[in-house]
Amino acid sequence: MSQSLAVLGGITAEQFLNEYWQKKPLLVRNAMPEIIGLLEPEDVQELALEEDVTARLIRQKNKNPNEWHVKSSPLTKGDFQKLPNLWTLLVQAVDHYSFDISELWKKFPFIPQWRRDDIMVSYAPKGGSVGKHFDFYDVFLVQGHGHRRWQLGQMCDESTQFIPDQPLKLLPEMDIQFDEVLAPGDLLYVPPGLSHYGVAEDDCLTFSFGFRMPNLSEMIDQVSDKFAENTLLKNPLADIARQQTAHLGEINEVEFSYLKTQLLDYLTKAPEFDAAIMAYMSESSYPNNIPEPEEVEANDLGEIISTGYKLILEPASRLLYRMQNGSLDFWANGENVCISEPFAAQLKRIADGENVVLDESFNDDAVLEDIAMLLNNAVVMLLPPQE
Ligand code: SIN
Ligand code: CO
Repeated sequence: MSQSLAVLGGITAEQFLNEYWQKKPLLVRNAMPEIIGLLEPEDVQELALEEDVTARLIRQKNKNPNEWHVKSSPLTKGDFQKLPNLWTLLVQAVDHYSFDISELWKKFPFIPQWRRDDIMVSYAPKGGSVGKHFDFYDVFLVQGHGHRRWQLGQMCDESTQFIPDQPLKLLPEMDIQFDEVLAPGDLLYVPPGLSHYGVAEDDCLTFSFGFRMPNLSEMIDQVSDKFAENTLLKNPLADIARQQTAHLGEINEVEFSYLKTQLLDYLTKAPEFDAAIMAYMSESSYPNNIPEPEEVEANDLGEIISTGYKLILEPASRLLYRMQNGSLDFWANGENVCISEPFAAQLKRIADGENVVLDESFNDDAVLEDIAMLLNNAVVMLLPPQE
């Protein structure tokens, strides 16, 4: 943890987490040179036209650049004909389509996988932007191609006012505190709530490494979905020792607190909570990106043991675990995953982001059944031996 990291400009993860994370921005020149050339502008345009890809095309009117238009996917070739001078194409979850891009998450080994969301790429010609705005999540903005001028301003929150009648949540003004042009490989960390405005200086690709922040409203929704599955909760609550009353319209304090205590007592020990939280955090934001794999059987896997194949996490899938009473509880894409005990330590390594070689230690019927099940559900995938 105390090692200095090039992606953070030579400071340690510990220092970054204490001083910058969720607090203030950090600019690092040449933080991620590996990103250069992974995607070219034409690749982004092609990807945006593919089925199931989540993309948005943002256009500003030539006559009035303060008039914005947003078209969400599916996008067609026609959408790119007759573009105005100022536009931006945003493509979500490019890490789900490219191993090289998904590998770049490893540059941030100090933030656990459950906090990751996706890597978005933006493509804009000179002058293009998505306007002055803020996000409710942490983001590392990394320049992949061309140059973008970033201005950072004031902190915003739920009470911040937006420009009315626009399809984007745009800020009327920004109190500029930072003004820098990012070149390929440069990185800018922007904490949640900080207003930012990035304008392309030339044909420009910017990658946004976005981090998910859970909210209580969605957690409560998940918990109530799990409660709905528990038919025992439909049992009527027995009455309390009833006293005679002259106030027939009243729920008295004793009755009210009895009902409330019944509910709160159950909530404090409800097993549904653990399942709801794990299901929520392991759910993919882009389930359509999870591929339909070819069916494999445990026998097929037996034949490729020790031939150089590796097991890795499918980039579009989420695999998380909890350590409880000394045993590992796995969740993948919103579902609890039951696996045999001998495989747990290996699956933990995969969830931690390791590529695991399929060697002789996997030669066990129950383990091969588990692997086949995970491959058939596209939780993990096989990486063939390198030539
Ligand atoms: C962009 O890349 O143009 C927008 C990214 C962001 O503001 O979060
Ligand atoms: Co933003």
